[in-house]
Amino acid sequence: MSELSVEHLLGIKNLTPEDINLIFTTADNFKEVLNRPIKKVPSLRDITIANLFFENSTRTRLSFELAEKRLSADVVNFSASSSSVSKGETLVDTVNNILAMKVDMVVMRHPNPGAGVFLSKKVSAKIVNAGDGAHEHPTQALLDAFSIREKLGTVTGKKIVIVGDILHSRVALSNIFCLQKLGAEVMVCGPTTLMPKYIKSLGVKVEHDLVKALEWCDVANMLRIQLERQEIKYFPTIREYTLQFGLSMEILNKIKKPITIMHPGPINRGVEITSEIADSENSIILNQVENGVAIRMAVLYLLASKIKR
Ligand code: CP
Repeated sequence: MSELSVEHLLGIKNLTPEDINLIFTTADNFKEVLNRPIKKVPSLRDITIANLFFENSTRTRLSFELAEKRLSADVVNFSASSSSVSKGETLVDTVNNILAMKVDMVVMRHPNPGAGVFLSKKVSAKIVNAGDGAHEHPTQALLDAFSIREKLGTVTGKKIVIVGDILHSRVALSNIFCLQKLGAEVMVCGPTTLMPKYIKSLGVKVEHDLVKALEWCDVANMLRIQLERQEIKYFPTIREYTLQFGLSMEILNKIKKPITIMHPGPINRGVEITSEIADSENSIILNQVENGVAIRMAVLYLLASKIKR
């Protein structure tokens, strides 16, 4: 298989396992390019990409921009805070104005779930979802699974626990879809108040005891508490959350086997994970960031090859 089954990357839910493996093998090639002295290829020389960020981002935004530049695409950047969105312009008008400047692909982060799907039905460009509210963050899940494959040799048959704020997390949902499609077993762990009501229908195990979850897993993906998406209090205090669900060396030392530690970032050091754990040899957090560039190059390259000219 040399082509994706989808026209846009809107989420992991609509990808096939073959799509994911094609993205991984393409990313393997781009990772080799990124380790060369000259880290650039001409693959997207005639393609223009607009990065539209209606929400803050450090990793995803820089990673997409680097991926685009490594592929020799022309890149324009847009952030809502410095645009005419604040003057009342709609999303479709904003994007159509950008597309009138002959843009081929749009990478978009937006606070509203489904924003990418909506846009893909209204405009002709290829759309890549860089995170839509609490819905999906497909390239994060792809780089997470790619990093597990790199560290453990395979994702198939591995046991992965996602710990923390599952309710507000687009990373959790995309990870669940991606890991299951690749044949991993997935558990979620956190307070009952931070579990969506539908969680069991996704076929995951649910655990509320962090030590039991760690005893079960090969990999622990520690999520940030998303206070910016929480309109009510879901637990009494941050300190109480950390006491029950924060990962420290003291807890990890109770588990008599190696566990790979992941975090999508940004990290709240001392809340969901201590600095000692984040910077330990078990942690692949910076490998995740490094792999993000190769994964995003692969996604952009594969979608660009479907542009009709
Ligand atoms: N992991 C992630 O999406 O980080 P940013 O919000 O910094 O892009």
